[in-house]
Amino acid sequence: MNLVTLKEVLEPAEKGGYAVGAFNANNMEIVQAIIESAAEERSPVILQASQGAIRYAGLDFIVSLVKTAAGGTDVPVVLHLDHGTDFDQVVRCIHSGFSSVMFDGSQLPYEENVATTVRVVEIARIVGVTVEAELGKIAGTEDDISVDEQEAFFTDPQEAQRFVKETNVDALAVAIGTAHGPYKGEPKLDFPRLKQIKELASIPIVLHGASGVPDEAIRQAVSLGVNKINIDTDIRRAFTDGIKDYIKKDPDNIDPRKMFAPAKEDMKKIIKEKMRLFGSSGKA
Ligand code: G3H
Ligand code: 13P
Ligand code: ZN
Repeated sequence: MNLVTLKEVLEPAEKGGYAVGAFNANNMEIVQAIIESAAEERSPVILQASQGAIRYAGLDFIVSLVKTAAGGTDVPVVLHLDHGTDFDQVVRCIHSGFSSVMFDGSQLPYEENVATTVRVVEIARIVGVTVEAELGKIAGTEDDISVDEQEAFFTDPQEAQRFVKETNVDALAVAIGTAHGPYKGEPKLDFPRLKQIKELASIPIVLHGASGVPDEAIRQAVSLGVNKINIDTDIRRAFTDGIKDYIKKDPDNIDPRKMFAPAKEDMKKIIKEKMRLFGSSGKA
């Protein structure tokens, strides 16, 4: 099946009250694990590549890998740029065949974030590509900032309403207490804020940093209007733990395929669990 846009998977998710998983990929094994999981779960899926993934694998390799994998299945697959912070890079992704992009202007002053997001939306619309933007700052767990300090960067619901009107984006990433990377303690999500953002912004909300967020908190976030959930760390962990386990069992092995194959199965297990948790299984 050809790649589809974010709108094509998030509109039904918003109507149906579920979320679609957005899983980060950097190489062939991860791409295959994500798409095979989607096919086996009959789930729509968003496969996303960060700027780091593009530096590592190469833009054309990412696009070719995902198009090949998506072409071999009949479930909807979105190829999305994750956290694009550079306008030129975002345009290169649109030009190279991504069906969706995130422009992340969250480090910019509000007016600059709006202005660049508007430029991205204008270009993306011409070629039928969808756009996610970010308002508020989503921390990294490595930033080591306290919950109180983090709150200063949370998304303001009124500002979110204004931002969506001014930019006309398809989905909005918000800062409500999650962070990228492995959590040290249990993350505490600001659900009243999420509820208000959804009521005012009225578009699909994106939850970043969802690895390590307890299942119950994910369910509540979905019930309050989160329709795209980003997972990277849990997949990285499954992949590398799988490889380490294999090496422990068979330290003299020199065939990479022997360790990648079980590690891929470990990734699929976690991806499928997430699809069931998010409610997207059986929706394709
Ligand atoms: O949100 C960030 C993603 O986990 C991607 O991380 O920039 O190391 O590829 P990365
Ligand atoms: P985690 O690595 O914490 O799952 O976050 C993923 C993410 O938000 C990618 O944009
Ligand atoms: Zn993110």
